[in-house]
Amino acid sequence: MSIQAENLNLEGVKTELYGRNHPSLTPVDIEAHAKTLHRVLALKQKHNVVMLGHNYMEPLVFGLSTKQEQGDSLGLSMHAAKTTAPYIIFNGVPFMAETAKILNPSKTVLVADKTAGCSLADNFGAADVKSLKVMYPDVPVMIYINSYADAKAESDVCCTSANAAKIAREMPGDQIVFVPDIYFAQNLEDELAGEKTVIYPGKGNHEKGAVCEVHEEFRLSDLLAVRESFVIPKGHGSRVLYAHWECRREVLREADFYGSTSQIMQDIAKRVKENQLERAFVASECELTSNLSQEFPTVQFWTACSVRCSHMAKVNLAKVLHILEAIDAGDSLSDYEVTLGPDVIERARTPIERMLQMSA
Ligand code: 13P
Ligand code: SF4
Repeated sequence: MSIQAENLNLEGVKTELYGRNHPSLTPVDIEAHAKTLHRVLALKQKHNVVMLGHNYMEPLVFGLSTKQEQGDSLGLSMHAAKTTAPYIIFNGVPFMAETAKILNPSKTVLVADKTAGCSLADNFGAADVKSLKVMYPDVPVMIYINSYADAKAESDVCCTSANAAKIAREMPGDQIVFVPDIYFAQNLEDELAGEKTVIYPGKGNHEKGAVCEVHEEFRLSDLLAVRESFVIPKGHGSRVLYAHWECRREVLREADFYGSTSQIMQDIAKRVKENQLERAFVASECELTSNLSQEFPTVQFWTACSVRCSHMAKVNLAKVLHILEAIDAGDSLSDYEVTLGPDVIERARTPIERMLQMSA
């Protein structure tokens, strides 16, 4: 849910917030944040800022972005590639903002907390890609978007959780190297069984690879217990268990639907439209479900809210306001600005653009 431009006066902002269906957004929260939200939205408009918001942002931050500015990694990259606005504030983690910079290098790309990491991107770098390329010289390397620009620069094509299977299928040859997410790779291996061999860190080699520290928390036993506690039987028409691609292989096999964060949202939207969704459990970052429960108030949602991405959570309303106040005052933006050398931009652009062309 996002706050529309026509609600830009303070009362309009409050009315919009009171209309939201979220148990954690009480009148106390609304009164405490309405002024800040109003100021952020006014500055956003004044300086013609595009504010991209990943689906894992807490609802108040997520709502700063218009519907078109919200999305998963693929949707946000596509938006970043075509914007003409001078400033892009990327409410997400730095590897996402780097992608926006690579696709639109003349723009100023800003992120609320440059220290926010990601257990996938942080644990697999350019040197790891290079050593796999030495081991498998004739096999194309497909790198997950959750990686830094220098690692992408060494790879043949990029992918997100929304398009990995499609891109892997379309790459030449009957083998593909996928890095760095080991669980994702195993899920891709299942998806492509009989079509293409997926090589990944730790499979027939000594590379370490990485996993998402958030999604690894969901285990098969947890999902079976969820089915029992919330009465979501497998294959039930209107009670659905969702999982993100980064979950363990056995978790994905148990889920009724898996996909990227936006694909999960789209499936929910489709079922709601057909009057076919009564309850859902979402095995992914907690705030995705917070945003879903605002968007689809007729559905009963559950997730595990102790399972948070501490990196994504570093983005908050106060930090976003700091960026905008700095723009407004003409102050230095160096604490927020994403910068990359021209050589890395040039080399990382090829696999990302190849992905975008193959996703069209
Ligand atoms: P999506 O591309 O599905 O939004 O996923 C991003 C991410 O970091 C998942 O943990
Ligand atoms: Fe990285 Fe996992 Fe956080 Fe996504 S949820 S940003 S993959 S640590």
